[in-house]
Amino acid sequence: MDTRSLFLRHVAQTSDAPIGLHIISADGCYLYDADGNAYLDLIGGISVCNIGHGNKAVKDAVHQQVEKYMHIMVYGEVVQSPQVQYAKLLTDNLPSGLDCVYFTNSGTEATEGAIKLARRATGKTDIVACNNSYHGATLGALSVMGDEYWRNAFRPLMPGVWHHNYNSDAFVDAINENTACAIIETIQAESGVTVPSADWLQRVRTRCNETGTMLIMDEIQCGFGRTGKLWAFEHYGVVPDILLLGKALGGGMPLGAFIASYSKMNVFTHQPVLGHITTFGGHPVSCTAGMAAFQVLLQENIIREVAAKEKLFRELLVHPAIKSVRSKGLLMAIELESRDAVLSTLQRCLQKGLFSDWFLFAANCIRIAPPLTITEDEIKKAVAILLKCL
Ligand SMILES: Cc1ncc(COP(=O)(O)O)c(C=O)c1O
Repeated sequence: MDTRSLFLRHVAQTSDAPIGLHIISADGCYLYDADGNAYLDLIGGISVCNIGHGNKAVKDAVHQQVEKYMHIMVYGEVVQSPQVQYAKLLTDNLPSGLDCVYFTNSGTEATEGAIKLARRATGKTDIVACNNSYHGATLGALSVMGDEYWRNAFRPLMPGVWHHNYNSDAFVDAINENTACAIIETIQAESGVTVPSADWLQRVRTRCNETGTMLIMDEIQCGFGRTGKLWAFEHYGVVPDILLLGKALGGGMPLGAFIASYSKMNVFTHQPVLGHITTFGGHPVSCTAGMAAFQVLLQENIIREVAAKEKLFRELLVHPAIKSVRSKGLLMAIELESRDAVLSTLQRCLQKGLFSDWFLFAANCIRIAPPLTITEDEIKKAVAILLKCL
């Protein structure tokens, strides 16, 4: 059997129509398959590869760390400098209330840890979450996910979760004295890129303050410069009590984190001790890769160029089949007439060397979330292919 057949037979499948490209290398904004085809990557591993594929500084840092050590001990017991240094660098680049990092393996575990932290720190149980939100696929994260089609088959879920629309008054009004946390994506991604109003976010913040509720903001997909600022919450003048990170956090390696104040995070040390534990969370190689990627992001002009790249995409994306383009920086959704139109366009794009995808809760939208390092020429090339395929 060839590798693709083995993949279909022995690797657990999550759909009956996987994209199924057999990628053998990746560099910059391109993926290369086993048949020698190149694909311009418009999704960067779903907002992971913000500084592009195969960055040399990241690869060098990983090689050096692998030579020193890989796994040593479960989370939190021994001093591992890659964790310490990355936690310090992250918190140096965050508001003062976000000064303590709990590293996990993934985004969904960051969500789980944050919910536990909010319950433990407030002594309350209820959660207010958004319709059309995505925070991960484990049971706690699934309980706060905002779409019945995706969660219904796995009931019973966590009780005490109330869903309301993003940007709605009902969401603000639902936050009360029993609410441990309100959880939102700063930019809602899987709904097909929904941007919050600053006024709504500020009202959510105020209501959380009034009721002693912790505000969790999920920047797993929209953080790390994707929206044109390092953190998406910077656009709105609102700071969360707990920030969720993942995806680009690991520079291409698996890593997630929830970040809060030292005093809040300290609740995990007692009653019970080891209040949240993980074997591999904050793996030294992942932290090394993530920190190297974060340094590249901070030192090079990458974030400052995002707004101009967004503008170029928007100027070029003109076609009668496009119903709307929604975006915040390089997180964009191109809305077409239907899911079928999206799927057939994506198929044609793939044949012409352009790699993209749809959104979980907006299958009638094409995802544009390339590495932030995409060049002007690559944007022009990508849009030209896309328009032809439309
Ligand atoms: C906004 C958001 N939160 C959480 C997650 C879950 O992250 P992971 O897939 O690493 O568990 C995702 C993943 O797509 C996401 O987009």
